[in-house]
This record gives sequence, C-alpha cells and structure tokens, in this order.
Amino acid sequence: MAVMLEAQQLRAQGIDVIDLGPGQPDFPTPEPIKKAGIDAIIRNFTRYTASAGLDELREGIAESFNRRWDTHFGAENVVVTAGAKPAVFNVCMAAFQDGDEVVIPSPYWVTFPEVVKLTGASPVQVPTFEENGFVPEMDSLESVLTDRTRGLILNTPNNPTGAVIPESVLGQLIEWTRSRGLFLLSDETYGEFTYAGREHVSLAAYLGESAAAFAVVGSFSKVHSMTGWRIGYCLGPTDLMAKAIRAATPARSPKRPRSRHCIAARVNSKRCARNLHGDGVSFCTGWSRFPDSVVFHPKGPSTSFPMWRRP
Ligand SMILES: Cc1ncc(COP(=O)(O)O)c(C=O)c1O
Repeated sequence: MAVMLEAQQLRAQGIDVIDLGPGQPDFPTPEPIKKAGIDAIIRNFTRYTASAGLDELREGIAESFNRRWDTHFGAENVVVTAGAKPAVFNVCMAAFQDGDEVVIPSPYWVTFPEVVKLTGASPVQVPTFEENGFVPEMDSLESVLTDRTRGLILNTPNNPTGAVIPESVLGQLIEWTRSRGLFLLSDETYGEFTYAGREHVSLAAYLGESAAAFAVVGSFSKVHSMTGWRIGYCLGPTDLMAKAIRAATPARSPKRPRSRHCIAARVNSKRCARNLHGDGVSFCTGWSRFPDSVVFHPKGPSTSFPMWRRP
C-alpha cells in the first residue's frame, strides 16, 4: 500500500510510473455483483452482522469448498472477514503466541511476517529457489526447525513468485507439519489464477473438517475484482474458527451489504479470474522491454515474476 501511495504521488507530479505494488485485477467488478450491492443497500441490508459474518455467506463458502474438493465443511468452519488480510491476522492470533517461531517460505507476501510479529511470535524465513520453481523444499524447512517452531505459512499460488505447490509436494508438507506438530496456514487468495494446465489444489481437500491444526485463507478481492470492497474468509476446524472469531470481534466485523454481494459473486468465480490478463502471455512478454530483467514464468497469479540481476 505504501508503494501504491508513492506511485499516486509521483503520478500527480506528472511522472510516468508503472506501479508494481498492489495486485489489482485489470477488469472492473462484474455487473451482477455491482447490481447486487446497489440492490442490497436500497433494500436496507445495512445493519450489523455477527462477527463471523452472515450465516448464508458462511454456508455458501463452505459449500463451494465441498463441491470443489469433496469435503464436508459447514458454516461453523468459516469466518468471514474484511478481506484476506484480517483473515490471516485472526488465524495467526488464534494459532501463535509470544516466543513461537513461524516458518515462511521466501519470497513471500510482505504481510505474513508483520502479522506473525503482531502475535508475539518470530517469523523465520526459508529461501525457495528459481531452479525448483520457487516451491518450498523439505530439507530447507527441516534445517530451520527448533523446539520453538509452531507453524508454517504457505501461499499457493504464490505472491510474488506465482509458484503453484504441486499436489505431491503439498502432501509432503502436510505430512511434515503433522509429524512435527505444527500449525499449517495456507493462503489461497489466488487459487483461481493458474495457467498453462497447472492446477491449484487446496489444503482443505486434504485435511477435511476434523483435522486440528490448519486453516485456509481466501478472498473475493482478486477473483471478482473487488479489492476495495474488502471481503475475505478463513476456513478451518470449528475450535480454531471460534478462536478466530474472538480475535476478530474487538477489531472489526464483515460489512453486511458487501457480504450480500459475495453470495452472488461466488457463482462466477472461475470466469472472472480467467479474464485477468487473458492467458498471461502479454504480461510476460511486456517485460522484455526492460533491460537486465530476468523473468520467471511460474504459471501462477502474477503469470511472471520479474527479477533484476546485475550483469
Ligand atoms: C497472498 C495474498 N493474500 C492476501 C492478499 C490480500 O487480500 P485482501 O484484499 O482480501 O485483503 C493479498 C494481496 O495482495 C495477497 O497477495
């Protein structure tokens, strides 16, 4: 957000700036969602909601996981939040505490370590490498393990690298966290953004509603081009969701009219996501204009991960 503000200031001074800060879809919020929003306000759908969000929306999110991943989640497994960012915060507050260490594969979305620090825990970075498609490696993870390690934060498809964790590696990571007694958080905000035949697999598909130590975070921001509307969610076992609600209540609750639109939005998710950059090719080739840039083509959300290297 700081980068975005700076870019806006530079533009106001007449400087031509390409802003690589926030991830904003290149299409407007789809018409049916806009209409549902306007309709909700006109019908006075504007009062407080419960901290966990509207039951109708919580059920809808659970059902969409059940349909796609053959799971058995219910509304009680979902907490609706004002975007994925607060969902990450609520889950981390519920899962981590002072003195814990939380492993975060790097490069990472910058919010993860900051949120971990807010819980009193320490973020521990583990590098991932271009040669391995920026997918976390078991040896690297094992090498940072201490008796204070409490959790692992995954982000697939990944911002900023675009890496999509293959199903086989996801299985290994789940097994690893289980055997070490760690909490596993998977941010799947970009779950609909995969290209060139690569498929996203949700952590939820593996763990089911009864598993103890996991949470999936998702968002309507990118898939439905609703970044300013602020709707996200976390999904996990009921006891963890109860703690996440306690973490959320003093701070903020999801807004009622926005929640309403998301029920409509949910239905068209795949179609909206595909509009983003077409197949990603034009975005990737654009980078060739920049000298000394090396582009990784990860088949994930950003569809290219530009890196600048010294010659
Ligand atoms: C990995 C990741 N998770 C979550 C978010 C934020 O989502 P939201 O707009 O729902 O807070 C972003 C935004 O860039 C992101 O990159």
